[in-house]
Amino acid sequence: MTVTLEPLRRAHIPRCVEIERILFVGDGPWSASAFRSELDAGGHYVAAVTEDGALAGYAGLAIAGRQGDWETSVHTIGVDPEFQGRGVGTLLLRALLARADELRAPVFLEVRTDNERAIRLYERHGFDRVGVRRRYYRPSGADAYTMCRPPLGGAEAPDASRAEREEAG
Ligand SMILES: CC(C)(COP(=O)(O)OP(=O)(O)OC[C@H]1O[C@@H](n2cnc3c(N)ncnc32)[C@H](O)[C@@H]1OP(=O)(O)O)[C@@H](O)C(=O)NCCC(=O)NCCS
Repeated sequence: MTVTLEPLRRAHIPRCVEIERILFVGDGPWSASAFRSELDAGGHYVAAVTEDGALAGYAGLAIAGRQGDWETSVHTIGVDPEFQGRGVGTLLLRALLARADELRAPVFLEVRTDNERAIRLYERHGFDRVGVRRRYYRPSGADAYTMCRPPLGGAEAPDASRAEREEAG
């Protein structure tokens, strides 16, 4: 199977919504309007497409801050179950991390504490657990780890509790 990455576009959204409903049942799968808002917000969104044109997966990095002081978050990453375990998730994550590295930005994300496969994937790409958010996912009530990957260049990861306070305020 050959998969190529391309920018995620509005035409991909209906299939993204279908995949979300499979992957994130109970954890608030994104609607079409949620995807549209994310694309409009100008983050780095990528689609993994097979040679037959099927959407194998998608991922998005939100970017906040300003020149010299960027902060990024993995807002979503999902692979169609039919295509899981073949390197698509790794490809998508690396595309997001390459963009964060261009910005020399730290990368934050939340992941269910029981999602061992995703946690391992993130740990192998330089993420550390920096906090727990109790009952983060709705309606399931599942807990999340906050994970952070420091910016390229070895700078210290920003203090996660400070980032959360700023987000809340
Ligand atoms: C997490 C996810 C994005 C990974 O995508 P993927 O395409 O399956 O991942 P890859 O094929 O690149 O494999 C990543 C790792 O998971 C392992 N893996 C993949 N499929 C597996 C399976 N069925 N059982 C056990 N491990 C598996 C791979 O071995 C690989 O580890 P390795 O590099 O040590 O070999 C995908 O499983 C997914 O969409 N999950 C549901 C949504 C989700 O949890 N998103 C993350 C929310 S934070």
